[in-house]
Amino acid sequence: MALNISPADATLGAVVTGVRLDALSEAEFAAVHAAFLEHAVLIFPGQHLSDAGQMAFAGRFGTLSIKAQPFSNERADGSLREPADPLMQLFRGNEGWHTDSSFQSVSAKASILSARKAPSRGGETEWADMRAAWAALPEAERARLAPLEAYHSLYHSQSEVGQGNTGTRDALRELHGQRTADDDQPGYSTTDADDTPPLRPLVKVHPDTGVPALYVGRHAYGIVGMDPAESDTLLSGLVDFACQAPRVLTHTWQPGDAVMWDNRAVLHRARPWDPNEARVMFHTRVAGDPATETASNKAA
Ligand code: OGA
Ligand code: MN
Repeated sequence: MALNISPADATLGAVVTGVRLDALSEAEFAAVHAAFLEHAVLIFPGQHLSDAGQMAFAGRFGTLSIKAQPFSNERADGSLREPADPLMQLFRGNEGWHTDSSFQSVSAKASILSARKAPSRGGETEWADMRAAWAALPEAERARLAPLEAYHSLYHSQSEVGQGNTGTRDALRELHGQRTADDDQPGYSTTDADDTPPLRPLVKVHPDTGVPALYVGRHAYGIVGMDPAESDTLLSGLVDFACQAPRVLTHTWQPGDAVMWDNRAVLHRARPWDPNEARVMFHTRVAGDPATETASNKAA
């Protein structure tokens, strides 16, 4: 079956079939890479990737900052985590629109998420097109936003869903301890709570395409030079405006599906599901290029 790329009925996203991600030829990789830059979210149904296969595919796009990490409410022994479990609170946080690793010194390039077990309903993932959102803003608003910068912190965003710094740190430690790859996952941990969080402009010019995108999401807060309440109102208003049709893509997971997205161009979030059902996902993350994804207040 030949490689087929079918654009979704939205400003972003495409479904890609007729290809094995763990055995891509150079020509297929070039086509997938071009589609990734154009559509920003690629859905690959029925891949059933192994950890090694998922890491090998992701590795073609750059250096991995997370290898093959379970993002799961099911423990290795098959029991389910309670909603109050610190790790579950981290996953609950993922139900807010965000872009991966914006709270680290070097933000993420791409993420790959695959489903091993999907709930019978709910638990979808959604993506929103921040290129289209930026383009849809009135010219005067773009001019006002362009010079602004916001801080990004996981401690800030987790506090918004009721998790304190200690719980957030515990959850991150546990996530580290769960890793399935044999070596380190450099850079997953956040900055210390008392470190200065990374500062990032509200507009991100894509390093490969040159297309500007609104760069906000739940980790962003505290626009420099602005009253905190005014900053919150502006940032949440931008997310509300941006994450609407036709800029939103929803994927309902089947076990075996893999999805890759461009964190430099889209926001994403998980949708809720019944916590009595297992949802077992594996996440691999490709680090951003330090030359273009380093925070403005951190050394490249
Ligand atoms: C992620 C994430 C959302 C989901 O993998 O980075 O935010 O639907 N996932 O699990
Ligand atoms: Mn995420």
